[in-house]
Amino acid sequence: MNRLRVENVSKTFVLHHQNGVQLPVLQNASLTVNAGECVVLHGHSGSGKSTLLRSLYANYLPDNGHIHIKHGEEWVDLVTAPARKVIEVRRSTIGWVSQFLRVIPRVSALDVVMQPLLDLGVSREECAAKAANLLTRLNVPERLWHLAPSTFSGGEQQRVNIAHGFIVDYPILLLDEPTASLDAKNSAAVVALIQEAKARGAAIVGIFHDEAVRECVADRLHQMETAS
Ligand SMILES: Nc1ncnc2c1ncn2[C@@H]1O[C@H](COP(=O)(O)OP(=O)(O)OP(=O)(O)O)[C@@H](O)[C@H]1O
Ligand SMILES: [Mg+2]
Repeated sequence: MNRLRVENVSKTFVLHHQNGVQLPVLQNASLTVNAGECVVLHGHSGSGKSTLLRSLYANYLPDNGHIHIKHGEEWVDLVTAPARKVIEVRRSTIGWVSQFLRVIPRVSALDVVMQPLLDLGVSREECAAKAANLLTRLNVPERLWHLAPSTFSGGEQQRVNIAHGFIVDYPILLLDEPTASLDAKNSAAVVALIQEAKARGAAIVGIFHDEAVRECVADRLHQMETAS
């Protein structure tokens, strides 16, 4: 069953402050992802992997093409959807793990992690229990849970970020190098979370530079075409 269909997406960046230089990055990119499948974007540095992933979260607006998302019973095209629809899709359908945590000052790690589930109306007790479970599995020491993540190490921040992305059982997950700053033990914890998400039927698009991780989670590679 399709969850996500990318059709002929193109994106050219125009650098207005640098003489209007044009950088064509995506050209007619097409990709379909089914429930329970993990597709890994593959290509050299600068080939547009993050650009495509950000477009799937509607952070970037493509110049052409369609990004159809199965949102509950309806299909939404993120290229033409109004902002309120995009917010709705992000709240319940698409989870996003960026490479870096955007730290919110003075909000505790536990609160950062459980916020997306609280936003869906789940009780605070249930959210806190699920957040604690994820932070434990990701080896974030309990003494840190009530502190703001701004002073955490890079790897600790990344694990808070991953817990935040996995707290809701999203039907679609977008992962931009979630294991980049993690050691082998923590990478294995993330691999386990990804495999569980696949088993419950999540459609996953990810970028993984670590070949061992890629081999564990990828059902298929999507080769990035070089735009001319
Ligand atoms: N917001 C932006 N404005 C202008 N150019 C951009 C922007 N985002 C990306 N680019 C350009 O688009 C190209 C693709 O970048 P992107 O980050 O998608 O590559 P990538 O495949 O994820 O690379 P890496 O493996 O190094 O993360 C690069 O040449 C980059 O300079
Ligand atoms: Mg990238």
